[in-house]
Amino acid sequence: MNKLIDIITDEVTKAFVAAGYDAKYGKVTLSNRPDLCEYQCNGAMAAAKEYKCAPFMISDKIAEALSGNPMFAMAESVKPGFLNIKISNEYLAEYLNSMQKDEGRYGCEKAAEPKTIMIDYGGPNVAKPLHVGHLRSAIIGESVKRIGKFMGHHMIGDVHLGDWGLQMGLIITELKLRRPELVYFDESFEGEYPKEAPFTIAELEEIYPTASGKSKEDAAYKEAAMQATYELQHGRRGYQALLKHILEVSVSDLKKNYENLNVSFELWKGESDAQPYIPDMVQKMKDDGYAYISDGALVVDVKEDTDTKEIPPCMILKSDGASLYNTTDLATMVWRMKDYHPDELIYVVDKRQELYFTQVFRCARKTGIVKPETELKFLGFGTMNGKDGKPFKTREGGVMRLEYLVSAINEEMLKKITENQKSKEDLDIDQEEAVRTAKTVALSAIKYGDLSNQASKDYIFDIDRFTSFEGNTGPYILYTIVRIKSILSKYEAMGKDASACSSVIKAADSENEKNLMLVLSRFNAVMENAFEETAPHKICAYIYELANAFNGFYHGTKILSEENEEIQKSYIAVLCLTKCILETCIDVLGFSAPDRM
Ligand code: ARG
Repeated sequence: MNKLIDIITDEVTKAFVAAGYDAKYGKVTLSNRPDLCEYQCNGAMAAAKEYKCAPFMISDKIAEALSGNPMFAMAESVKPGFLNIKISNEYLAEYLNSMQKDEGRYGCEKAAEPKTIMIDYGGPNVAKPLHVGHLRSAIIGESVKRIGKFMGHHMIGDVHLGDWGLQMGLIITELKLRRPELVYFDESFEGEYPKEAPFTIAELEEIYPTASGKSKEDAAYKEAAMQATYELQHGRRGYQALLKHILEVSVSDLKKNYENLNVSFELWKGESDAQPYIPDMVQKMKDDGYAYISDGALVVDVKEDTDTKEIPPCMILKSDGASLYNTTDLATMVWRMKDYHPDELIYVVDKRQELYFTQVFRCARKTGIVKPETELKFLGFGTMNGKDGKPFKTREGGVMRLEYLVSAINEEMLKKITENQKSKEDLDIDQEEAVRTAKTVALSAIKYGDLSNQASKDYIFDIDRFTSFEGNTGPYILYTIVRIKSILSKYEAMGKDASACSSVIKAADSENEKNLMLVLSRFNAVMENAFEETAPHKICAYIYELANAFNGFYHGTKILSEENEEIQKSYIAVLCLTKCILETCIDVLGFSAPDRM
């Protein structure tokens, strides 16, 4: 379906053309004075310059031409030359009826030419606990992926595990110290290594911090860990077998964690998967004359003439021949291009890595790792801060682990749900349902709290505000959906048919209802724009507006006691459409609503 704003623009454009003006002046936008009108066209102001006349002479003519057009309830010329427009209630109802019939899409068309888009998000480091920075990447990345999918694109999420760093050597070193008898440490061993990992996730979670702590105090220990890392990276069999075990154990734990967040990945590749591509990639960079030795290291220049600040060369290999984070990211692009031919790569990473990604992207383009037509997008996110404005910490001052944060919110939510239900006698939620509901609502609090901010901005994680049932919060949105569900079930309990959901929507008979209908009509435009701008926060802003518009309608309208059957059915249909659109939106944001709360 065409966007309503485009349909209106077409109509106004026709009037401009018919009156002898250029079509480009007919552009209509949403009104920035909703008290005066719903849409506006400022084209006459600009056209006046070209046609050398007073702007209102043009706007008057256009208003005149539009009067009597059944699409508009008002098309008014106001001095000095604005066109204030209101759509007719009948036309708007027609539009909503078409949306309703377009089940599942509600007027939002899929992309005519679907793209393959790979999205790099999550980025957890194996054996290290997830922290809140990883939370942001997961939440934003998942939503960007879902928006793309909804728009019909082929979205491939890759978790890009950090599985190639010193943490591996640390674990190996500690394990060797504790259990030297393990076959993995016997260099002469040539047989098959055991299938089972020699540790559980609980042990792994204890081994890593212990080893990390020791390495900070004991230089020899650190040296041993670095040596182990080197040997692992250079193919020592026993260590590679251990790496596999570490991966198995932590990946299954990570999957559980991400599942709890309603986040999933199509690919579970890691930094280690890129290693086989490094030698050829480096060789080619040398052969093509891009890579050269500078201070012993192999680098590629990436600065450009138009740079206003210094962009240092991209380092490909250290002087000892070791590869770096850069090398891995570039080699990862090699297999992504080879195996998936993406039209676009999106990286959802902490914005403090922006310069780094500028270097990597430029290097990838320059050396031909990515094709010129492949888009590279860095979606940098800001820091999640505590109420004191400083990076989120535990009470003791440590890095906040994701699990703690999630369980703190779950607890807070359970308290609220339990209290809330005490005030409503007809709500007989048992403990089990309360716990389940609290989890669902808590997830909305976390995700909406994050996504409602533009990704690049820092924000304050405020449990009290995020878990509130009022204001611009996830729980408020869910509460609105639950309210609609409850009206619908009361309607059914009155012995009426639920199929009223698809009955004809009549022209609005109140300002509140019209306002709700106007917001509903924008769904396709909002979704498209959120995709184009990789901006989930636009969907949050939209559903907040939609929830407010709905609640305005709900408070101003007697829905269940309406005596005229046809009018009541039309209300029910509007309710259903509102619910479907809210649910579609929260689904692309990555959370869902309970049946009651
Ligand atoms: N593992 C990294 C970290 O924890 C994030 C990885 C980001 N993605 C990438 N392709 N470099 O900081």
